[in-house]
Amino acid sequence: MGEEESLPLGAQQPKEGGGNGDEDEAKHFRDVCRSYQQYATFHDAKQRGVDGRLRRLLLASGAASFSGDGSDASEGEIIEPTVESILPPSMKPNSSESKVRQKQLLDATIQNQYFLDWVLKYSGVPTSQEFIRLRESSGGSFEWVTEEQASKVDSVLKSVARDWSAECKDERAVAYDPIIEALETHLPVKDFYGSNCVPRVAVPGSGLGRLAWEIYSRGYSVQGSDFSLPMLLASDFLLNGCGIPDEDVVGGSAPPAVSYRRFNISPWIAETKNQLSFENRVRPLIVPDVNPSSLLFAPASGESPSPEFTMLAGDFLQLYSNFLPVRDVDGTNGGQSNLRAENKFHAVACSFFLDTAPSLPHYLITIYHMLEDGGLLVSFGPLMYHWSGHGAVLPGDLDERESEESSVSSAYRRRTMHLDQRYLSSIDYTWDDLKHMVERCGFEILEENLKVPANYASDSRSMMTVSYDCAFLVARKT
Ligand SMILES: C[S@@+](CC[C@H](N)C(=O)[O-])C[C@H]1O[C@@H](n2cnc3c(N)ncnc32)[C@H](O)[C@@H]1O
Repeated sequence: MGEEESLPLGAQQPKEGGGNGDEDEAKHFRDVCRSYQQYATFHDAKQRGVDGRLRRLLLASGAASFSGDGSDASEGEIIEPTVESILPPSMKPNSSESKVRQKQLLDATIQNQYFLDWVLKYSGVPTSQEFIRLRESSGGSFEWVTEEQASKVDSVLKSVARDWSAECKDERAVAYDPIIEALETHLPVKDFYGSNCVPRVAVPGSGLGRLAWEIYSRGYSVQGSDFSLPMLLASDFLLNGCGIPDEDVVGGSAPPAVSYRRFNISPWIAETKNQLSFENRVRPLIVPDVNPSSLLFAPASGESPSPEFTMLAGDFLQLYSNFLPVRDVDGTNGGQSNLRAENKFHAVACSFFLDTAPSLPHYLITIYHMLEDGGLLVSFGPLMYHWSGHGAVLPGDLDERESEESSVSSAYRRRTMHLDQRYLSSIDYTWDDLKHMVERCGFEILEENLKVPANYASDSRSMMTVSYDCAFLVARKT
């Protein structure tokens, strides 16, 4: 990873919800680390809650014990079904079957925590064990993260599975393969041989980093970026921390493809709904499925310089605002970008990213300016609009607006002041609107493929699968 990432993440990371100042950022970093540290404790508490419900259910229905089958019937005798007699043995809190199940769940939780602890350790942050010691010595004055913060760690584990498990290979292929093929078709690396330059590809919203890594593995220089600290902590570890130094390999040095750390994680344990079986819910996956560090120091091909791989932490519009033209004081376009052209990108490639925009026109204009002339925008994804659906204006807001100019009432402002401003500015554009804006920016559309079915961090064994009919687009800056 490049030098941008060598800063401690917490020191450079703007808060996901848009924070002000160092104090907010430091707090956000602490909260994210705490949500990692408290992961297993949260899951344990949730499971205890379920056990408590089962006990109360059995007590309320007059069960004699929480372990037997609840039937005193002699052979051949037909008895009335009761809650106790029909519940599966594994759901009766004192039964041996229930103890086996609890142990399986605990083991899966501990495996997940073990992975998260490696992530924390890699970032130089105390692990869950240190958190437990701190909790014991705190005498009760202890700060828990919120349920919402804790649930983000569950999302990280699912994203780790999406990007770095063999089980999610097909899900990745649907989104990532067309992007990679488009780059190889319209921006072949070999066209740069002898030019003393490697094609540069920006991968904004890179999540756990696999797409960025795959593009890099094809010989492109890649700059991934993301603003989510929970995601960045895990991607930093996966991309940089899984390699095992030769001296730590038992029995001496091992081939680079072999010597890397792998983890069993059970990313679906938080999903209690739509499960066909308990075994599905706790099943482990191995991550990563390839050695992410095997490429990072790839030697130059001899025909061109070595490609580079960097990751930036921050909001897309802020990170790349320096590509925007400098405007004159009177607001007219000075026509000059304040970056030298050689720093621009030959492609911006993204998956499930464009609809994260609080303002899609701003994303598109920024992408346009990030690109060299002839540069490519390659995008795959749905139009879910991350910031959509909050702060609707109601009829009364229009009736009570203070003036013709103000579109809403002060009651509206009060009602929505707790919301992130990005919810209040978000507009849902159709695919046609998006294409119109792409063309008006100055792109020529080279490829368009609509209604490509794709899943996102989805459990292939669940009874519920959300499938998006995604749009794929390749456009060239003219
Ligand atoms: C739906 S995920 C897609 C992740 C990855 N590209 C994939 O296909 O698996 C969207 C990603 O964009 C990131 N993101 C959303 N808004 C962003 C912004 N304004 N700046 C940078 N990253 C952003 C999120 O943190 C998340 O990792």
